[in-house]
Amino acid sequence: MSRYEEVKVELQNNPKIWLVTGVAGFIGSNLLETLLKLDQKVIGLDNFATGHKHNLDEVQSLVTAEQWQRFTFIERDIRDYATCEAAVSNVDYVLHQAALGSVPRSIADPITSNAANITGFLNMLQAAKEANVESFTYAASSSTYGDHPALPKVEENIGNPLSPYAVTKYVNELYAGVYARTYGFKPIGLRYFNVFGQRQDPNGAYAAVIPKWTAAMIKGEDVYINGDGETSRDFCFIENTVQMNILAATASDEAKDNVYNVAVGDRTTLNDLYKSIQSALKECDIEHTQEPIYRDFRAGDVRHSQADINKAVNNLGYAPEYRILHGIKKAMPWYLEFLGEQ
Ligand SMILES: NC(=O)c1ccc[n+]([C@@H]2O[C@H](COP(=O)([O-])OP(=O)(O)OC[C@H]3O[C@@H](n4cnc5c(N)ncnc54)[C@H](O)[C@@H]3O)[C@@H](O)[C@H]2O)c1
Repeated sequence: MSRYEEVKVELQNNPKIWLVTGVAGFIGSNLLETLLKLDQKVIGLDNFATGHKHNLDEVQSLVTAEQWQRFTFIERDIRDYATCEAAVSNVDYVLHQAALGSVPRSIADPITSNAANITGFLNMLQAAKEANVESFTYAASSSTYGDHPALPKVEENIGNPLSPYAVTKYVNELYAGVYARTYGFKPIGLRYFNVFGQRQDPNGAYAAVIPKWTAAMIKGEDVYINGDGETSRDFCFIENTVQMNILAATASDEAKDNVYNVAVGDRTTLNDLYKSIQSALKECDIEHTQEPIYRDFRAGDVRHSQADINKAVNNLGYAPEYRILHGIKKAMPWYLEFLGEQ
């Protein structure tokens, strides 16, 4: 049995109380779904800055009435310390996901990103430390590798940040390390690499590439590629990300006070991604045959990204179950149901 399977059995036998911040967002709502299906008690915090009530409604439709009753939602803002303090009381595990994502958003408005991602983070970290929670796991980011040229990315070797967003995520890691050294409170940071899957928002200027392109292709629209299409990413299906959060929350003390890459260890170019989505749609009888339209590179974007996942495999027992095409196909029914109509 994998460590993930073992942990899930243990949690079902001995349910815990979890706080998921950013619960109405993409990753947060997927964490909520898995935790409720494991009969856990979940407190969710979100201010709907980029998350949606319909994500929570969808989770409600996917769990039993009894499981849904174990969920308490707090519509508040992590920039307010008292909110964080109240949310974390009596909690066993914190999964801190709330933040303003997106490199371009942070370039357009660094002050608002800083407030949510640094002040909000510090509020959560301090409140969790004061409440003596068993573990504090937070969403870090592959953007922390910045301009470091080496591939694949190994946790210990980072470069200079290339955007305000990357600074905020790096500062999270710095604070986490300081809390371990100063207070003996040992968080785990998860450096997500381009997560994708059901409930990722396809709309708005800051939408992620997979839902944005899939929505456009379903509607027969043109798709734009920033740059020459040879930019590459280590796309990570949401189920792998959920697995890492649960493994991190329940990790041994020696595995804490660390950051871990969360990815698959693959590298997919945007040109290949384009073809993969087209072929997955074709299997669902949707023909999108247009060529992509190339335009300028986007400011702040890292050129290539690929993770070395050995640290997570060795320390946490991480075993990603989905590579990119498998994930796209798994998410396709959701894309077809929810992206075509928007
Ligand atoms: N999706 C990715 O590929 C990716 C990659 C690297 C890191 N991350 C990080 O993972 C986390 C989750 O990202 P996501 O993709 O689910 O994004 P998302 O925008 O769907 O979710 C973030 C959630 O946080 C909430 N939020 C934002 N500011 C808040 C505040 N001040 N108070 C309370 N709630 C607030 C939003 O309303 C939203 O529901 C973020 O920390 C993000 O930076 C995501």
